[in-house]
Amino acid sequence: MSRNLSGYSLTLAMALAGVTSIVQAADLAIAKQADNEQIERGRYMVKTGHCNNCHTAGFANSEGQMPEEKWLLGSGAQGWRGPWGTTYASNLRINVHAMSETQWVDYVKSMKTRPPMPFWSTAATTPQDLAAMYKYIKQLGSAGEPGRQYLPPDQEPKPPFIQYPMPVK
Ligand code: HEC
Repeated sequence: MSRNLSGYSLTLAMALAGVTSIVQAADLAIAKQADNEQIERGRYMVKTGHCNNCHTAGFANSEGQMPEEKWLLGSGAQGWRGPWGTTYASNLRINVHAMSETQWVDYVKSMKTRPPMPFWSTAATTPQDLAAMYKYIKQLGSAGEPGRQYLPPDQEPKPPFIQYPMPVK
């Protein structure tokens, strides 16, 4: 009798373990699905939020015909020169690899950059969409090289750069 009972408990324990692993596998599948949806949303946000037009070298010239493995590695040699000096659109993969998701969301919500970065538009993006962008950019892979550094107004940049009108003196 006692042997039967313990046999029964063992079967029950095994059945429960089986159910637990099925539940765990289902949880994992749901989490994976949620991640994929967020990454897809991030791709859409990056694409329609114009990030590539400045943060991907040659993107605008190619009219958007560039493979994703080249996206968001920075504007490369291309600068924007105006009264603020010369700016270069950063390699955003380096940014996301250096930050946690929360840090990225907080940073993008509060940052004030020089032109022509439209920081007021990224600040108006919801934390959910910024988190999706973070996940998307992160899975693009290797962080790559940092681009050229900002130059103050009195320094002459190397070409190529887009010249904005200078203030009238
Ligand atoms: C019109 C060009 C332009 C567009 C469009 C643009 N950026 Fe930028 N971005 C820049 C430039 C130039 C800088 C560097 C500004 C500076 O040096 O102060 C910059 C800086 C940034 C920074 C700060 C990087 C750092 O190292 O601190 C972040 C983050 C950023 N951009 C995110 C985005 C995202 C996300 C998008 C799309 C939703 C976007 N940008 C669209 C030009 C652009």
